[in-house]
This record gives sequence, structure tokens and C-alpha cells, in this order.
Amino acid sequence: MTTAAAPLLDVTGVTMRFGGLTAVNDVSLTVGEGEIIGLIGPNGAGKTTFFNCLTGLYVPTEGSVRYRGTLLPPKPHLVTQAGIARTFQNIRLFANMTVLENVLVGRHTRTREGVFSAILRGPGYHRAEREGREKAMELLAFTGLAEKADHLARNLPYGEQRKLEIARALASEPGLLLLDEPTAGMNPQETRAAEELVFAIRDKGVSILVIEHDMRFIFNLCDRTAVLVQGEKIVEGDRETVQTDERVITAYLGAPLEGTTPAVTETDQ
Ligand SMILES: Nc1ncnc2c1ncn2[C@@H]1O[C@H](COP(=O)(O)OP(=O)(O)OP(=O)(O)O)[C@@H](O)[C@H]1O
Ligand SMILES: [Mg+2]
Repeated sequence: MTTAAAPLLDVTGVTMRFGGLTAVNDVSLTVGEGEIIGLIGPNGAGKTTFFNCLTGLYVPTEGSVRYRGTLLPPKPHLVTQAGIARTFQNIRLFANMTVLENVLVGRHTRTREGVFSAILRGPGYHRAEREGREKAMELLAFTGLAEKADHLARNLPYGEQRKLEIARALASEPGLLLLDEPTAGMNPQETRAAEELVFAIRDKGVSILVIEHDMRFIFNLCDRTAVLVQGEKIVEGDRETVQTDERVITAYLGAPLEGTTPAVTETDQ
């Protein structure tokens, strides 16, 4: 019997406990081919921990993560090899390497040339190196960093460092990209440009799961958004569903989400 195509990412009942603290509690989530899915929630809700469970940085206490129907081993390099790439909330670049070198490092999992070839520096090595540079330069052009290729990563302004993280993640040729607060520290113009970049990445055939506190960014981009509060997914759906959910409003301390009309209007007279 043939069933409907499995989702690209299929997370079932993931729980992550640290001692007595349950940071992620029985969270299930799917990301389909070509989707942009949002993950929001107050500080400390467990969003980054959830990403860490997907990418092998943490071994979930319970639950399973499947990618293209296959159970993912909780090892970061195997997750990357399988086709999931990520960026980090706290930027993790090689500060003293150039922009181009940072992207070349990201390609590492996709190069077939082995250690011996590199030592012998045969024709295969030189071809692979040339192709690698060309692909890396394409990614820098795509993310708007081509002119900075020779700059040291640490000299880039913050917003461009975030873009470089994305370029490096894309270098591993992922099918799914996880973005952890990609616009943190960006000005409004950079944020709007980042929205375009996310759409362009999706149009290349890469699905996206994105954590953000900027609600406008999330609701402009996402097909669906899941809300985590104290480790639990309390609601998931389209903009309307999320913005009008009482539990979501309460979780954000009663303050309506930015750019939304409050579900409950009270005149304080
Ligand atoms: N390695 C760890 N050991 C112990 N506790 C941890 C660990 N990692 C995360 N936590 C705890 O898990 C909870 C969730 O943290 P997490 O960083 O996932 O939240 P978040 O939703 O990403 O928050 P923010 O929006 O501030 O980035 C927090 O209480 C945090 O202190
Ligand atoms: Mg976080």
C-alpha cells in the first residue's frame, strides 16, 4: 500500500529533561517539503533546546526524530550528512577565518575528496577545491556577502555575521534549514532583507524551521507556527489561530502580540 508522502521532518513526542527540569515536554511537529514553519515562545520556553534535540547536540530523553522517513541518529555530523543544517542563536563562526573560508568549512560534509587525495594533491583534489570555491562564492553572492569574501568573519557587522551563518549552513546542501533567531540584532531594514532571503532559500527547495521573537517576521513568512510555553507546544496553526489563542496571549504576559489586534479589548475606566 502506498501512503501519502512522509513529511520531510517528523518529530514525535520529544521530551528533554535536565535533572528535575523538563525543558521540552512531549513535543511533536512536522515540516513538509517546501514549508516554512515558525517556532515561537517566551524566553526559556525550550525552543533552542528543541533544536538541539533535532540536531544531535542533545539526546532527547524521550521521543523520535525522523528525516525523510529515516530515524536520525543523535550525532551532529550524521544529522548534517542526512540533510539538516542549522544556525545558532549565539553566532558560531570561525572569527579569525575569512568569510569565504567559513563557507568552505560548511561544505566539508559534502566533499567526496578524502584525506589521501588532499595529501597527494592530485587532479581530483584541485578540481574539488576549485568547485568548492565556486560553490562557496555562489552562496556568498546569494546571501549578499560576495564583496566581503576576503574579510575576516569577526570584522563583519552583526547582521552580516548572521547571514554568513546562513551561507555556511547552506554550504552543506541541506533539505531542511533550522534558523535560531536569524534576525536578532538586525535593524528593521536588515530584517526585511532577511525575510526575502528566507523566501529565496525556500524557493531553492530547502524547507525551513525558524525560531524568532519578531512576530512580524514570523507571520510574514510562515505557513504554520507552533508556540512553545514552558516546554509544551500549546498551539500550532496559521496566523489567525495563533494570534487569537487565549493561552498564547496569556503566555506573553497578557500583552497582545506585536502587530495584532487584541482578542480581548477592555477599557480601563
Ligand atoms: N544544557 C542545559 N542544562 C540545563 N538546563 C538547560 C540546558 N539547556 C537549556 N536548559 C534550560 O532549558 C530551558 C529552555 O531553554 P532554551 O534555551 O531552550 O529556551 P529558549 O526558548 O530558546 O529561550 P530564548 O528565547 O531565551 O532563546 C531553560 O530553563 C534553560 O535554562
Ligand atoms: Mg533560544
